[in-house]
Amino acid sequence: MDIFKIEGPVKLNGKIAVSGSKNAALPIMAAALLAKGTSVIKGVPDLADIAVMRRLTKSLGANVRRKNNGDISIDATNVDNPVGDYNIVRKMRASICILGPLVARCGKAVVSMPGGCAIGDRPVDIHLRGLRELGAEIHLENGNIVATAKDGLIGKSIFLGGPFGSTVLGTANILMAATLAKGKTIIESAACEPEITDLANFLNKMGAKITGIGSPRLTIEGVEELNPVEYKVIGDRIEAGTFMAAAAITGGKLELTNCCLDDMVAVVDRLQNIGVKVEGTEGGCIVSCNGTAVKPADITTQPYPGFPTDLQAQFMALLALADGNSVITEKIFPDRFMHVAEMNRMAAGLRKEGATVIIAGVDKLVAAPVMASDLRASAALVLAAMAAEGTTIINRVYHIDRGYERIEEKLNAVGAKIYREQV
Ligand code: EPZ
Repeated sequence: MDIFKIEGPVKLNGKIAVSGSKNAALPIMAAALLAKGTSVIKGVPDLADIAVMRRLTKSLGANVRRKNNGDISIDATNVDNPVGDYNIVRKMRASICILGPLVARCGKAVVSMPGGCAIGDRPVDIHLRGLRELGAEIHLENGNIVATAKDGLIGKSIFLGGPFGSTVLGTANILMAATLAKGKTIIESAACEPEITDLANFLNKMGAKITGIGSPRLTIEGVEELNPVEYKVIGDRIEAGTFMAAAAITGGKLELTNCCLDDMVAVVDRLQNIGVKVEGTEGGCIVSCNGTAVKPADITTQPYPGFPTDLQAQFMALLALADGNSVITEKIFPDRFMHVAEMNRMAAGLRKEGATVIIAGVDKLVAAPVMASDLRASAALVLAAMAAEGTTIINRVYHIDRGYERIEEKLNAVGAKIYREQV
């Protein structure tokens, strides 16, 4: 198992190229299953989660490979196995996004029902409700979701809202399924995340007829078939936001490329509010902080365009060193606070009350051995460790490898001191 040894404090300075978006690439890889022939997807980051999706799509009959130039090619001519292997699916919750494409393409899908995870309950009831509305018959068998639509899916007006607002992968699943349904589907309360926009653009390039892209009402005119295409995924706004927080927490200056500020309005707003400078550049931005403590802030996570839950932990690390008390409320995954106790081991002044954390800004963080619990919590610990005095040891960094491409290489190139060791 790998660990990180991180020496702090450091001040980051330099330029980082943001990788392609993991959460856009995963459903896009699943969507490639909808068309016979070979789709080529560019800008797909080299991550553990992407490797799982490669294995999964391969197990369904697709011929999947990463080319020497980094592109992923998916030849989905022979998708003849509608069963997602439990041993692959259980490794990654995003595996659920093969459900819609398989039902649409094969008339059947068997995918294991996801269980709980480190960030809390993550039901898929809305995915299933949406597929049922499109005419799929769904039942549970041996812990598997079995969905069938022998005579194909039929378009319908569907409300996809849930107790915490829209659902990203639920929208992705129904959107993908509806592209090949007979007639018109309208998805109300669709997720508006840039990753859904990217998926819809990919599907339209394949020949789908989707309008209302980027809005909470998506209209899909079903087509008979889709064609394979070449497509480049967007830059990863969560990786970009993590590096923005890294520049700020170390009092440094980073130039980020392959990052779209228009997709990060809430994040930029919070950063500017606490005294961090963010300037747009052609295809990226420059983030700088003058070295004094940031101002405190009040952050509530919300569906897009609100502040993303996937940056909640990283901003908690940043605000732990703010000049005063901050408040963070989690409105998407109310239990996504595994990092709180770990950061408190580094002398952060965090107090959790329900789905809210009150952050008493401290003058300094101190190094400690800590445990990574999920992807974004691990990123937050890396940020805290770069600002803390001493050498922090982060255990279980496999969590971070699921979603951040070569993070220690990227950060070390701009001044961090992160050492990966095997124990
Ligand atoms: C996506 O997960 C992302 N994953 C998550 O990123 C991200 O945190 C999340 O969206 C929210 O932005 C991928 O894109 C691969 P949701 P998803 O369905 O789609 C409730 C990361 O770190 N809900 O939008 O699974 C749910 O419990 C990951 O990269 C239902 O009630 O999340 C939550 O409260 C982690 N029933 C809310 O909706 C359902 O059927 C939003 O979840 C589905 C969801």
